[in-house]
Amino acid sequence: MNETTTIEHDVADLGLAEAGRLRVEWAERSMPVLRQIRERFAAERPLEGVRVSACLHVTTETANLMLTLQEGGADVLLCASNPLSTQDPVAAYLVTRDIKTFAVKGEDNDRYYDHIRAALAHQPSITMDDGADLVGAIHMLALDRYDDLAPGIREWSTGLPAGELDAILQNVVGSTEETTTGIIRLRAMAADGILRFPVMAVNDSYTKHMFDNQYGTGQSTLDGILRATNMLLAGSTVVVAGYGWCGRGVATRARGAGAKVIVTEVDPLRGLEATMDGFQVMPMSEAATRGDLFITLTGDIGVLRREHFEAMRDGAIVANSGHFDVEIDIPALEEVAEEGPHELRPYVEEYVVNGRRIVLLGRGRLINLASAEGHPASVMDMSFANQALAAEYLQRHGAALTAEVHRVPVEMDREIARLKLGSMDVEVDSLTPEQESYLSSWDQGT
Ligand code: ADE
Repeated sequence: MNETTTIEHDVADLGLAEAGRLRVEWAERSMPVLRQIRERFAAERPLEGVRVSACLHVTTETANLMLTLQEGGADVLLCASNPLSTQDPVAAYLVTRDIKTFAVKGEDNDRYYDHIRAALAHQPSITMDDGADLVGAIHMLALDRYDDLAPGIREWSTGLPAGELDAILQNVVGSTEETTTGIIRLRAMAADGILRFPVMAVNDSYTKHMFDNQYGTGQSTLDGILRATNMLLAGSTVVVAGYGWCGRGVATRARGAGAKVIVTEVDPLRGLEATMDGFQVMPMSEAATRGDLFITLTGDIGVLRREHFEAMRDGAIVANSGHFDVEIDIPALEEVAEEGPHELRPYVEEYVVNGRRIVLLGRGRLINLASAEGHPASVMDMSFANQALAAEYLQRHGAALTAEVHRVPVEMDREIARLKLGSMDVEVDSLTPEQESYLSSWDQGT
C-alpha cells in the first residue's frame, strides 16, 4: 500500500495501513445495512461537495461510516472523540483512503484538542459528535468563552484573519450526536437558548440505543474488562452503577456469565425495574463493601468516591464504561491511597488504600474501547446507518430545522430495522386492511 500521501493527517504510523484495511473489511462484512446505504450513496451522491467533520471513536466500524459518507460525495475529516479509543491501524488505513484523519491512541490532552482544531479548520457544514466535544468547541468560540477553550484552539482562533472564524462557525448547518452523554449536554445548551443549529439525536433512535447501548455496551464492556484482567466472572460479585440502557445490558450479560450482580441507582423507577428484573439493588455505600468488580455507567460525576474506595475489599477492580472519565473520582483515589499507581498490565493500575489493593482499569476511561474494540460491527451497523441517514437528512432539510435537538424521523428508524431484519433473514407480519382500519378508528370493537 502506498505510504506517501498528501492528505492532511496525524496518525501513529502509516505503515499500519494494510493491517487496518484487513480489519475494516472484516467489520464491513457485519454491516449489511450500512453497506446498502453506501451503495445508494455511491449512485445518488447526496453529500456531493459537503464538508463533514466527525469527532468519533476511530474504530473499524467508524471507518466504514466515513467511507460511506465519502461514497456519498462528502469531503470527510475524522478526529478521535476519546484519547484512548483510537485503533491506530484503522486511522492509518483511512489516510490511504483520502479521509483526513487525526487520531493517535494514547494522545495527550493537547494533541486531542489539536485534532479538534483540525476538525474546525476543515470548515465543516455538517459535524458529527460522540460526546459533543466538537459542537462544544464551536459554541465556546461563538460565545467568546476563550477561558473555557483548550489553549491550542484558543491560539488558533485568535490568530485567524478577521472574519474567518465567523465564516467557519456560520458554515455549520447542523450536527449529529451519537451518545447519551452528548445528548444531555446538547439539551442543556438548547435549554440555555445558546444552541446555534439543529442536532440530530442519533442516540435516541430505537435502532441505536436499544441495541448499541444495551447489547453493544453489555458485551463490549465485559470484553474490555476480561481482556485487561482475564478475571473469572462466574461466582464473582459485580456492582453495576446505573440502570439505563447501558447498565441493564452490562448487568444482564454479567448475570449470564454467572456473576452475582448488584445494581445501584438514583432513579426510583429504574431501581424498581432492576429489582423486578431480579437484581439486588442497594446504595453504593453498602455495595462498596461487597463487590469484586465495579462498573460505572451513569453519565454522572463522582459515582465512586473516597468513602467508597475506603470501604472496598482487598483486590476490588474498578472500571468505567460511561462516556467521560469522571465517574470514578481518580483524584480522590490518588489522595486516599498510600501507594500507587503501580502498572500491573496494560491499562491495569493498582493503588493501596488502608492496606487493601484497589485495581483501576483504563485510567477510568471507557473500558470497552480502551482495552477492547468497542461494540461489535453488527450492532454499530444500525447506529452508523442512523448517522449516515441523519447526515443526508441534514443536508436536505437542515436549513429548515430549528436550532434544537431533533429525533431521526421514525420512518428512517423503522427502515433501518427492516433492513437489519432482512439481512438476518427474519420476516415480520404486515397488518391486514381490517387491522389497519381497527387501529385507526375509535368506534370499532365496542
Ligand atoms: N462506541 C462504542 N463502540 C464503538 C465502535 N465499535 N465504534 C465506534 N464507536 C463506538
